[in-house]
Amino acid sequence: MTMPTEMDELGRRFRHYAEGFLSGEEEFDRSIRLKIEHSFRVRSEAAALAASEDFPPSVARLTDVAAMLHDFGRFEQFRRFRTFHDAVSVDHGQLGTRLLVAQRFLAGDTPAERGMVLAAVRWHNALALPPGLSGVAWQVASAVRDADKLDILPILFDYLEHPDNRAVVWNLEDSPRLTPAVRERLLRRESPFYRDFHNAVDFIASKLGWVYDLNYDHSRSEFARRGYLGRLRRYLPDTAEIAEIFELASKALESREKQ
Ligand SMILES: [Fe+2]
Repeated sequence: MTMPTEMDELGRRFRHYAEGFLSGEEEFDRSIRLKIEHSFRVRSEAAALAASEDFPPSVARLTDVAAMLHDFGRFEQFRRFRTFHDAVSVDHGQLGTRLLVAQRFLAGDTPAERGMVLAAVRWHNALALPPGLSGVAWQVASAVRDADKLDILPILFDYLEHPDNRAVVWNLEDSPRLTPAVRERLLRRESPFYRDFHNAVDFIASKLGWVYDLNYDHSRSEFARRGYLGRLRRYLPDTAEIAEIFELASKALESREKQ
């Protein structure tokens, strides 16, 4: 799929902004580059989703802009706090919207379009979208959330294969057991709260709960086709509590996929 010229321009502007954070310090720059490449891949994921869900062109365009810019706040967050862990630093969705406005990054869009892109950036990392979001704004924000989830997992798998950049799991320690609050949410088929994460197992197991929070058939079938649940399972302890949560998530994905 060819992106319109305007979109290539957007990609260039985004890259220019984000690369401005590179410092020459290897470990720091690796985290910045990780988020730059992630942003472009989420953009591709979102384009595939918009195509397979038959988004009208105007909605597909807003989805593209929002996907490209969803992590706009990550760079400033990492520069200031050296972490991607929102709960101990700053809400990067909120920071991203503030920076996009301050930088006049969306100056070419109408106020209504701008509002929808900013809402998608603002809420992409929230546990759930606010109930007031509906229509096209909901469609765009939901697409960005799904596309983000589809791309985050390979980054996590990469880390789990070669655990050399612990920032990916927020520098949390390994543990054989889930934190009870995380376990309870997963057993209720809900995404756990980030603030309850106390170890890397909470972090990894919480991704099983993402199957309850995918908005589009496209995303559910990609989640299944790519075998994400099975891959997560490999990096979790072989315990009864994990087996139970894994079974619940697998069943949910199977049944929803057939709908
Ligand atoms: Fe994000």
